[in-house]
Amino acid sequence: MRREQYRMDRARALALLQRAPVVHLATTTPDGAPVLKTVHGVVVDDALCFHGAPAGEKSESLGRAAVLGAEEIVAEIPSYFVDPERACPATTYYESVQVHGVLEEVTDLDAKARVLGALMSRFQPEGGHVPITADHPMYKSAVKGILIVRVSLERLDGKGKLGQNRKPEELALILLRLWERGTPADLAAIERVREANPSVPPPAFLAAPDGVQLHMCRLTAADAARAADLLEGAYWNAGVSRETIERSHLGATVWVGARDQRGRLIASARANSDGAKHAWIYDVIVDPEWRGRGLARAVLRLLLAHPAIRHVRNVRLGTRDAQRLYQGLGFVVEAPRPHGWDLLLSR
Ligand SMILES: CC(C)(COP(=O)(O)OP(=O)(O)OC[C@H]1O[C@@H](n2cnc3c(N)ncnc32)[C@H](O)[C@@H]1OP(=O)(O)O)[C@@H](O)C(=O)NCCC(=O)NCCS
Repeated sequence: MRREQYRMDRARALALLQRAPVVHLATTTPDGAPVLKTVHGVVVDDALCFHGAPAGEKSESLGRAAVLGAEEIVAEIPSYFVDPERACPATTYYESVQVHGVLEEVTDLDAKARVLGALMSRFQPEGGHVPITADHPMYKSAVKGILIVRVSLERLDGKGKLGQNRKPEELALILLRLWERGTPADLAAIERVREANPSVPPPAFLAAPDGVQLHMCRLTAADAARAADLLEGAYWNAGVSRETIERSHLGATVWVGARDQRGRLIASARANSDGAKHAWIYDVIVDPEWRGRGLARAVLRLLLAHPAIRHVRNVRLGTRDAQRLYQGLGFVVEAPRPHGWDLLLSR
């Protein structure tokens, strides 16, 4: 790698390799002809492994040097994000990983079965098949016949080009432009650029009370479970199962949250939005230990400025007793309910 500032640590490089939908394999045949293939790779026994037909280019290349690579585009950065006239700053932020090594055949039948099992877990995680073992009558001959190739991960290199070459003020501008452009990929890019440049202060749109980080990407299953923990006992979810609460979070069009310094989710809110006419906010919750410090306000401001909500004409929510919180953000009472109020923000 030419520039150390872009080097990714081994754990991140490995994670990128493990989540790559496909891996590119470059090698040569014994007569020196170049070979480029796309394979499904899995990491087993500290090697990147893939399968193939017992005869063909992959088997011909056994014992030869190879490079395997995968990459993810994080964001296209147009030149005008940083310069109104010059084309030169146009670039792409990306993460990539490469493994250099030698193609080795896996011949041990149990090891072959483990690679095939790992491929099934990776690409058919829902299961629905008899587990693969070398001596199972259903798989015995297939395990024996198939070609399994490994390349040791000794030479694993990761590169993340995520704005590390930029001055803090330039990076702040790029983060703002990503937020303004606001595609789902841009929101994920904001998080990745910030992770790669931890000394850059949070941009104004992510301003939060001390010791708190705001987030606005799709939440993970673990976040949904933690949101369900926080929402336990909330009056509006009485009779709603935990599983339904988790699924409603994973299915929401917009989610925002806040984490403490240990990365624990301490506030959460979600909304369903058509992006233009109507949005409805649900499940605004702050960890009891963190209440009264402006966290709900920070999370709601972020939610209202979120690209999927910022241009919506009517944003609504129902509440029993927290009108003052929402009135401070511009909501007015639209209609009384038997046990509360519907609030509306019109713009
Ligand atoms: C309501 C809740 C989200 C507020 O979180 P918070 O982080 O403590 O709120 P903030 O510190 O950001 O408060 C911002 C403003 O809203 C006001 N506020 C907060 N909670 C309020 C409540 N329950 N009723 C009326 N006003 C409230 C605060 O006084 C503050 O106003 P101020 O600056 O004029 O003093 C939190 O108490 C909670 O999770 N409660 C349980 C779940 C809930 O009721 N959710 C709302 C459902 S609509």
